[in-house]
Amino acid sequence: MKPSEPIATTTSGTTSATLTATTTAAPAAVPLLDLRRQYDSIRADVLAAITRVCDSQGYILGPEVEALEREISALTGAVAAVGCASGTEALWLALVAAGVQPGDSVITTAFSFFASASAIVRAGATPVLMDVDPGTLNLDAALVRKRIVERRPANLRAILPVHLYGQCADMDAFGEIGQEFGVAIVEDAAQAIGAEWRGRGAGSLGTTAAFSFYPTKNLSAYGDAGIVTTTDLGMAEHMRRLRNHGSPRRYYHDEFGWNGRMDAIQAAVLRVKLTHLADWNRSRQQHAATYDRLLAEAGLISRAPSGGSASSTNGSPVRLLARSPEAKHVFHQYVVRAERRDELRTFLADRKIGSEIYYPLPLHLQPVFSYLGLKAGDLPIAEQAANEVLALPMFAELTEGEIRRVVEGIAEFYS
Ligand SMILES: Cc1ncc(COP(=O)(O)O)c(C=O)c1O
Repeated sequence: MKPSEPIATTTSGTTSATLTATTTAAPAAVPLLDLRRQYDSIRADVLAAITRVCDSQGYILGPEVEALEREISALTGAVAAVGCASGTEALWLALVAAGVQPGDSVITTAFSFFASASAIVRAGATPVLMDVDPGTLNLDAALVRKRIVERRPANLRAILPVHLYGQCADMDAFGEIGQEFGVAIVEDAAQAIGAEWRGRGAGSLGTTAAFSFYPTKNLSAYGDAGIVTTTDLGMAEHMRRLRNHGSPRRYYHDEFGWNGRMDAIQAAVLRVKLTHLADWNRSRQQHAATYDRLLAEAGLISRAPSGGSASSTNGSPVRLLARSPEAKHVFHQYVVRAERRDELRTFLADRKIGSEIYYPLPLHLQPVFSYLGLKAGDLPIAEQAANEVLALPMFAELTEGEIRRVVEGIAEFYS
């Protein structure tokens, strides 16, 4: 779908007249995310899927969840998938199945959503928070390698790279580090469903991987849900037990698990949406290209995005993040680094243009992680990013007119 075209008609046969109008007239407001447009385009299919579950009277796990697990396995190229209650739950399952135990250490990025590190704590381990690559803002593999060589954390069991904003971390480098030092690679793919690294799907690039279907994600449930993928059948079986109270059969328990199960209604909704995911991700990529082009035409950025450092401003107020040539980026977020970011955000908000900061405080500076002993200045790239990043409106149904309005707003602020 081209950005300037009206919202596509689906099998439900609904096309929103109001949405069509927003593609031709200058839109008054540009939301960061508008889930209603997606809902309008798939409403009949989603309601039919929910009705199917209600008619079956089977509400937890069951055939809908099993079908979704097969479909996500096929999409990612993983050996198996295990549906669960949330992305946070998926991270815990992924870590425990990969062998993380109380007393272990797990290296992860300081620049992510809280759950990337809190799931490590819930597994009984210590997060070792490290800095990010200045270009992509993903966990810096060179720093991780250096740290392991020079000062290996005690009982290092796993590395947890996050595919931030929908772009895979350097999985060549993390694969090598995992092999060389005998540690598991656990992908936090919460933001990266459909993303690839060298043509291989996120979710099949490490030992285990966690996805979130939180409502704002590229593939989103109508509530909380998540899934874990793995390249190891034994680990998949372990995760199936863990999500169900560590129970191999009803009322028998070999280990401590939890209720981390997925609801059938969520699986049914997700299966409807999964049939659109490739198109939606393609639309996001087109919107990113439109942002790139319009920002360049407005003279707000000095060069096209590329690999390497994004740390020099070249006199431009806005900088793009680096795009790894090996990565198929699915633009969960379109994030720029902006001078006077907070003022820009307020200026845009006054013009009803949505934006968000992912994330305003790196994990090592969160009060709850003070026990790790890191302080301001210790992870300077993450700290600088937290002061500069701004996510602009991004969702499949966004129109070119809306993107134009966002860029005009940014240009007006810096003029
Ligand atoms: C990078 C990352 N990890 C983990 C999570 C946790 O997922 P959930 O909100 O589904 O528990 C999220 C979602 O917000 C995320 O963005």
